[in-house]
Amino acid sequence: HLGAPLESSTSPALRFEVLARCSTTRARASRMHLPHYTARTPMFMPVGTMGSIKGITPKQLEDLDCHVILGNTYHLGSQPGPELLEEAGGLHRFMAWGRGLLTDSGGFQMVSLLKLAKITEDGVEFENPHDGKMMMLTPEMSIGVQNAIGADIMMQLDDVVSSLTTGPRVEEAMWRSIRWLDRSIKAHKRPGEQNLFPIVQGGLDPALRTLSAQELVRRGAPGYAIGGLSGGEAKGAFWRMVALSTGILPTSKPRYCMGVGYAEDLVVCSALGVDMYDCVFPTRTARFGNALVRTGSLSLRQGRFRDDTRPIDSDCTCLTCANYSRAYLHTSVTRETTGCHLVTVHNIAFQMRLMRDIREAIVADRFPQFVRSFMETRFGRTV
Ligand code: GUN
Ligand code: ZN
Repeated sequence: HLGAPLESSTSPALRFEVLARCSTTRARASRMHLPHYTARTPMFMPVGTMGSIKGITPKQLEDLDCHVILGNTYHLGSQPGPELLEEAGGLHRFMAWGRGLLTDSGGFQMVSLLKLAKITEDGVEFENPHDGKMMMLTPEMSIGVQNAIGADIMMQLDDVVSSLTTGPRVEEAMWRSIRWLDRSIKAHKRPGEQNLFPIVQGGLDPALRTLSAQELVRRGAPGYAIGGLSGGEAKGAFWRMVALSTGILPTSKPRYCMGVGYAEDLVVCSALGVDMYDCVFPTRTARFGNALVRTGSLSLRQGRFRDDTRPIDSDCTCLTCANYSRAYLHTSVTRETTGCHLVTVHNIAFQMRLMRDIREAIVADRFPQFVRSFMETRFGRTV
């Protein structure tokens, strides 16, 4: 019903169709045809660490209108392991998820989770938490595991430094990530069935970011990611690096901003031309009893919710808001029982609804008005 795409790109395992563009920002609404599912963007992808989202089942994720979810190579590679996954026919079959699946390469998780990780030109060396033995994750091994997992989109292994790092280490990591990309492209055994996304690095240095993005574009890919951001730097610096990257990456291909999940970042980065996001934030914060709402979040463990018979959000259509009061959730998140699961359901519903609102506003050519009203609701008054 939206007619012919305004712009499109076709790769062996991905077709991207831009359906509508905002006339005053870089925001666009698109359809992304993946081997397992056709997703609508801008979209948010919840993170399922062990192949299942903590506190939620694949069926519930479908009901919540999730199009693509994220799995982690680092976790899946050690348990259940590539052999078992290959035998099971890939992760889609193993976890009974028929829609889109994206796997991260594992390096970022090891560097951020395991402080002992050591990076060399060969790869990331780390201590296996299961047996304490030193192990090496190379770009080739990461691709091997991701080929066994069979996700629709795989990520290159990159050398990630904190966004607060300065000096020569940032440039070293940027160039090493490009060399690791070249090794990853060579190692990829299933380019007809799985997409390999490179990752723009370069810290907060505009010249390095520019070089990185240009080098990736020169190599060509079905889609591109922007990495190394949202790690404690100022919002202005973060958003400027996103704008710089989307200004260089091709408009006909999807752009994925990694590790981003705060509502204001989803809105701003979509205005800057980003199409995909993931973050553990909505599901992690749910387990601490925090429910996402348009004004910010409700910390349901607070005593003020003990007698509050309203749902988290009376406009939300999720099963939690249809059936449970803040008072019930207060009691059950405090005792860490089913409450955490119910808040997880609501928080994913919140993210999905925000992304649907963004897409609909772009299609209806009222995205700037949407941004204004979103910012007014979120920052214009106190919670
Ligand atoms: N998740 C969040 N940021 C990053 C990044 O820069 N690289 C990878 N591989 N994963 C991420
Ligand atoms: Zn809800």
